[in-house]
Amino acid sequence: MKRTLEPELMDDPEQALAYAGADFEQENQGFVDRFREYFPEFTDGHVLDLGCGPGDIPIRLARALSACRIIAVDASGPMIRLADEAVKQAGLADRITFHCERFQAVSLVEPVDAAVSNSLLHHVPNPLQFWYRLRQLVKRDSPVLVMDLLRPDSPEEAQAIVDRYAAEESEILRRDFYRSLLASFTEDEVAAQLAEMNMSRLVIDVVDDRHWVVSGIIH
Ligand SMILES: C[S@@+](CC[C@H](N)C(=O)[O-])C[C@H]1O[C@@H](n2cnc3c(N)ncnc32)[C@H](O)[C@@H]1O
Repeated sequence: MKRTLEPELMDDPEQALAYAGADFEQENQGFVDRFREYFPEFTDGHVLDLGCGPGDIPIRLARALSACRIIAVDASGPMIRLADEAVKQAGLADRITFHCERFQAVSLVEPVDAAVSNSLLHHVPNPLQFWYRLRQLVKRDSPVLVMDLLRPDSPEEAQAIVDRYAAEESEILRRDFYRSLLASFTEDEVAAQLAEMNMSRLVIDVVDDRHWVVSGIIH
C-alpha cells in the first residue's frame, strides 16, 4: 500500500483534546523506559522532544531523568496549550520549556545533548527534512530515540489495527489513528532515509506489530 499523507499539524482544538484524553500510558512510558535502557549513562543535560503533542512524554522524561531539562517543540497551538497546562499541573514548569514552532524552523541557543521524537515523522511530507534538522539540533555523539507507526500492507490491515488497539477510543481518535497508519513509513523506507542522510550509526528496529524505533548515537 502506498503512503497517503495526513495533515502535518494537529491544530484542531477538538482533535488535540481527543489525543490528550486518550490512554497512551503504556506506549509513552515504554518509550521513556526504552530511552533509559538504551542510554543508561545519559543522566544530565538538555533533551529535545520534537512533536511533543500534549506533553505527556516530556513530563515522563523529566520525572525519569531528574537532572535533565526538556525542550519540547510542537507547531500546534492547541497542543502546546494543553502541554503547558499539564506541565504546570505536574509542577515541572521550571524544567520543561516549549517552542510552538515547526521543527523545520525552530532555532535553539545551542544544540541539545539528546533528542527524542514519538509519532511525528508520519505527519511530515518530506521525511528527510526531519532527519536533517535532527542532526542539526543535536550535539555530535549524543543519543537519539525516534519511534513511529509502521505502515500496514493494506487499508483493511490498518482498520484491523485500529479495531484491535483503539476499540474503546473516540471516533476522532480512531479516525486519526487510521489516517496515521496510512501516512506512516515502512521499515525499508526509514532505513533508506537513514542511508540517504548518511546516518548509519542509527539503527531501525521493528518492536511490535505497529511500531518501529530508530536509536543510536548521532554524528
Ligand atoms: C501524533 S502527535 C504525537 C505527540 C507526542 N509526541 C506523543 O507521542 O504523544 C504528533 C504531533 O506532531 C506535531 N507536528 C506535526 N508536524 C510538525 C512539525 N513540522 N513541527 C512541529 N510539530 C509538528 C503535531 O501537531 C502533533 O502534535
